[in-house]
Amino acid sequence: MIIIGSDHGGYETKEFLKKQLEKNNHPYIDCGCDGSSVDYPDIAELVCRRVLKDPGSKGVLVCGTGVGISIAANKIKGIRAALCGDYYTAKYTRLHNDTNVICLSGRAIGCEAAWELLNVWLTTEFEGGRHTLRIDKITAIEEKEYTNE
Ligand code: RB5
Repeated sequence: MIIIGSDHGGYETKEFLKKQLEKNNHPYIDCGCDGSSVDYPDIAELVCRRVLKDPGSKGVLVCGTGVGISIAANKIKGIRAALCGDYYTAKYTRLHNDTNVICLSGRAIGCEAAWELLNVWLTTEFEGGRHTLRIDKITAIEEKEYTNE
């Protein structure tokens, strides 16, 4: 399942991406917004908590730059969110970082470009191997942070 959300800065892109997801038979849940002004941390939290509840699901977040919503998403334990603005990053952040959330800009790139990035991200699998150890190290940092060691 794909969990998608945006603030007002990413609304138009989110609506475009939903149409592409439908065309490509990817089921999704839309966590808002409806186009009215909202705060991106609220949407990031809604989407990410839902992703964590449903193992195997992936999150898609869009705000004006993609930056605010990615910072907020990465505060949540278990979330590895990548802000992607180019094809290489979108692909390798799945192969090497096993990201479970992609963040996109609604204002710096066009809707078609956003879909290209989302599409390659959705269809690329984590490579595993040596990258698993590195992900484990990220998780270890997270554990320390959350237990204030
Ligand atoms: C909202 O105007 C804007 O600040 C937000 O969408 C995003 O760009 C924040 O990083």
